[in-house]
Amino acid sequence: MELQINGQRTQADADPATPLLWVLRDQLNLTGTKFGCGIAACGACTVHVDGQAVRSCVTQVSSVQGKDIRTIESLGSAEKPHALQQAWIAEQVPQCGYCQSGMLMAAAALLARTPKPTDADIDAAMSNICRCGTYQRVRAAIHRAANSVSSGATKSASNGAVPKTTGSAA
Ligand code: FES
Ligand code: FES
Repeated sequence: MELQINGQRTQADADPATPLLWVLRDQLNLTGTKFGCGIAACGACTVHVDGQAVRSCVTQVSSVQGKDIRTIESLGSAEKPHALQQAWIAEQVPQCGYCQSGMLMAAAALLARTPKPTDADIDAAMSNICRCGTYQRVRAAIHRAANSVSSGATKSASNGAVPKTTGSAA
């Protein structure tokens, strides 16, 4: 089947019921998206589908044919990091790092629909689980990124600009 991933048409040979996560990781070598629980509970596998944050471990690959799929690999680059990635570094958010790509994708979807989120907005949207307890730093980094984008202090990558899509950290 044909998939649209990170702006490119990609062929995947998978049973239609295969979770998107495994197509990304095992077939397409997009290993930035992580497996944590497999039951939509932790958010480590969060990607964007048509701008919505979705948990790829419970998303059948057949359900995302023809949709715009974005993974952490498209959020920014080392040369041109996304505003959130810059904020993540500034706030020293990652500890072990395992949950962080999912956190970033959920945060990007949040900022797309709520450019200046309150603490309550962040707490409501960021249901991702971090076993290292980075929640306070995640919140600080989201505020920092929101402020940098609104002030124009941060110029993010063309593909790293806060996407003008809507979504939720479902
Ligand atoms: S691996 Fe998908 S939510 Fe935990
Ligand atoms: S940084 Fe270790 S699980 Fe979140």
